[in-house]
Amino acid sequence: MGNMHVSELNAGVGPLAAGAGAASAEPIDAFPRSRLPVAPVLSAASFWRHPVGGARVSSVLDAGPARFVTSGRVAISLALRQMGVGGGATVLVPAYHCASMVEPVIWSGARPVFYRVNADTSVNLDDVASKLDGTVRVLMATNYFGFPQALDTLRRFCDAHGLMLLEDCAHSFLGSYAGRPLGSYGDYAIASSMKFFPIYEGGCLVSAHHALDRVTLRSAGLAFETKVAFNSLEDSFEYGRLPLLGALVKLPLWLKDTLWRGIKARRQPGAPSLAPGSSDGGFGFDPAWMHKRSSLFARAVLRLVSLPRMGQLRRRHYGQLQAGLAGLPGCRPLFAHLPDQVYPWVFPLWCDEPERVFRQLKRAGVPVIRFGEYLWPGVDRTVCANSVELSRRVLQFPCHQELSAPELAWMIEQIQGALKAQKAGSS
Ligand SMILES: Cc1ncc(COP(=O)(O)O)c(C=O)c1O
Repeated sequence: MGNMHVSELNAGVGPLAAGAGAASAEPIDAFPRSRLPVAPVLSAASFWRHPVGGARVSSVLDAGPARFVTSGRVAISLALRQMGVGGGATVLVPAYHCASMVEPVIWSGARPVFYRVNADTSVNLDDVASKLDGTVRVLMATNYFGFPQALDTLRRFCDAHGLMLLEDCAHSFLGSYAGRPLGSYGDYAIASSMKFFPIYEGGCLVSAHHALDRVTLRSAGLAFETKVAFNSLEDSFEYGRLPLLGALVKLPLWLKDTLWRGIKARRQPGAPSLAPGSSDGGFGFDPAWMHKRSSLFARAVLRLVSLPRMGQLRRRHYGQLQAGLAGLPGCRPLFAHLPDQVYPWVFPLWCDEPERVFRQLKRAGVPVIRFGEYLWPGVDRTVCANSVELSRRVLQFPCHQELSAPELAWMIEQIQGALKAQKAGSS
């Protein structure tokens, strides 16, 4: 599997988004492969207990019992089912979103209604209140890019209005708010572990308030287990990690690819896929994966990876991006500060001329993520002008724990160059 796919998958963007902006004439294939991994890839260091005695880092897994599935979107569909949401019900979804957040709602039979977010991505509660019409059962709230919403306020609002809160922690696997782990405020919370860990698939459903006994999952089978383990390793070899292991498994990998091609050639059209579409960069929600357990490989990695290392490095890389891009023309960090207890998914940068910057960086092989680039049909300025602006203007850059110092320095240099060129071009 090319890592291009992993980048799209883990970015939560559409099939075209990682390659071409909506206004761009260049198709996805016109851009070279990213020169550094957009999402974490496995390295020997992934498992280091470093720093020794480092501060404990909260995660959604501290919020309550969890069920490990293959993606965040599957977890959303399970949460809605647990809430008993179906035909006739309304789910309030933020107007700044990606399709993976909307498709499970539609699949459940409920109606998504989009509410406004403020310019800083916080929930516009006045708008939410104006949409309460007796059919609204659920408020979906997203901790964008790892930065929590005012979760205590949202919780109180939901309690006061008899709503259930679905806390979307797809960008916030780690962190806490007002002393409680993210994921613990929602009736149910979902996360997308594949955005944070060096794994090929993975999401989870968590609840601090309800038992998950009725959520039963089954194995997705040996072919799936094998495929996802090999794919995770391949992504890692592609970016020069685990070189010794890479050399050792060259032959088995070649055999696997050959075998795979044979299996694929013989499969009937329409046969169920061996891994979720989300893992192949697909955008869709496939209910066939709703009751499939995440792979053994992914669950083992989740247990073994050091959360303090992950948290500390994400914050450090975010800080380096912030310092490196400070004061550059035509841009500003979406969030002025990185509060304590926030462990960001990415570094979001507001750009005056996003298309030009995006294309220049993609041509240079810089991984650029565009969460929310394609809003659901009908979501326009009349629905939420802030969401349209965020969708168009905010580019995101990886700050994950598996970036090396030279990779990060190179990426910062490229972004600086693109922003300065933008200034020169426009003056
Ligand atoms: C905010 C948000 N919620 C939910 C999802 C769904 O997660 P997954 O890609 O694991 O299905 C995504 C996907 O990127 C997302 O960005």
